Amino acid sequence: GKRYTGLIDRYRAWLPVLPETPAVSLGEGNTPLIQAVNLPRHLGHDVDLYFKFEGLNPTGSFKDRGMTMAITKAAEDGAKAVICASTGNTSAAAAAYAARAGMKAFVLIPEGKIALGKLSQAMMHGAVVLQIRGNFDAGMQLVQDVARTAPVTIVNSINPYRLQGQKTAAFEIVEALGDAPDYHALPVGNAGNITAHWMGYCEYSDTRSHKDACLTGSCVFCQGKCHYGQPLAGKRPKMLGFQAAGSAPFIEGAFVEHPETVATAIRIGHPMSWEAAHTVEQESGGWFDAVTDADILEAQKLLAQLEGVFCEPASASSVAGVIKQLRAGRIETGARIVCTLTGHGLKDPDTAIAQSTQPITVDANLASVEAVILGR
Ligand code: F0G
Repeated sequence: GKRYTGLIDRYRAWLPVLPETPAVSLGEGNTPLIQAVNLPRHLGHDVDLYFKFEGLNPTGSFKDRGMTMAITKAAEDGAKAVICASTGNTSAAAAAYAARAGMKAFVLIPEGKIALGKLSQAMMHGAVVLQIRGNFDAGMQLVQDVARTAPVTIVNSINPYRLQGQKTAAFEIVEALGDAPDYHALPVGNAGNITAHWMGYCEYSDTRSHKDACLTGSCVFCQGKCHYGQPLAGKRPKMLGFQAAGSAPFIEGAFVEHPETVATAIRIGHPMSWEAAHTVEQESGGWFDAVTDADILEAQKLLAQLEGVFCEPASASSVAGVIKQLRAGRIETGARIVCTLTGHGLKDPDTAIAQSTQPITVDANLASVEAVILGR
């Protein structure tokens, strides 16, 4: 059988790795593109909606796509230690992939502002966890400062290999749908992921890179059936980026000094990919918008209860954003839309439990259980 061994092996010809470079992989990528069956009808909008469930990556978020590349290249360069600032998911992925590569991981997280599942991952994988009395933006500055003198490789998305790995999600979507969607919605924090997706869509629809890949005999898109030089699809989606209203520098047009949101993953005021994100917006003809914490939590619940998909709050902002655009008439009937669900709901059990119907405690006898079931 052909065992799936991760996105580097799958897309090697499209990534800056040599044929012989061993991949540090946990089998990331190849995540399901789940078609919505109930949500559009519930909303009263006839659209073809999909969820790219990145929460099903090995450490539970899309960060694994970037981390397999960053750690593979760090290992190739002989690095012994890596470092990142994180709102949680990057720290979990860095800790796991560093463990696998036999490297030390240092992670800087904002004290008290990361979801419990993420903290448990960084700790369990043996990272040195530094809780800073400051937010992600402060941590990011510290990481850049310390890496100038200490022997540590930065594995935040300012490491260019990160976005290279993350672009493969766009490849998978095009393969699954046979073409790019009309719209692709993502939550935006540093704007690394939306930038990576746009790179992926552009490379896919770019004649030259398609031709080059075909000539290597390993074109992943057409399996040798394309006409050389003819892209199978020239289409690119409009990219939609959604930020939490309390942490929305792209919508405010300026950095935010004290970002706040229930979606702690995207509690970021100084995005690293500031210029790149504006380029994505312009080139794709898409736009950015803000969604409130209430919108985010409502979308998270709708996904869980109408579609059976449990994502973390930050991830639900892509869906909250699409709902907002549909209601405003900014997305047309019949449009094909992909929402990236960046992280798994189990990352943040506290937020899930706090907003859910609480368990009913009963005595352990038939009458008590029956009373509940029969609604007495
Ligand atoms: N969704 C989740 C679940 C995230 O963890 C992040 C970023 C984003 C969306 C935003 O992606 O920054 O590329 O625009 N998390 C980083 C971290 C900051 O440290 O885990 P972006």
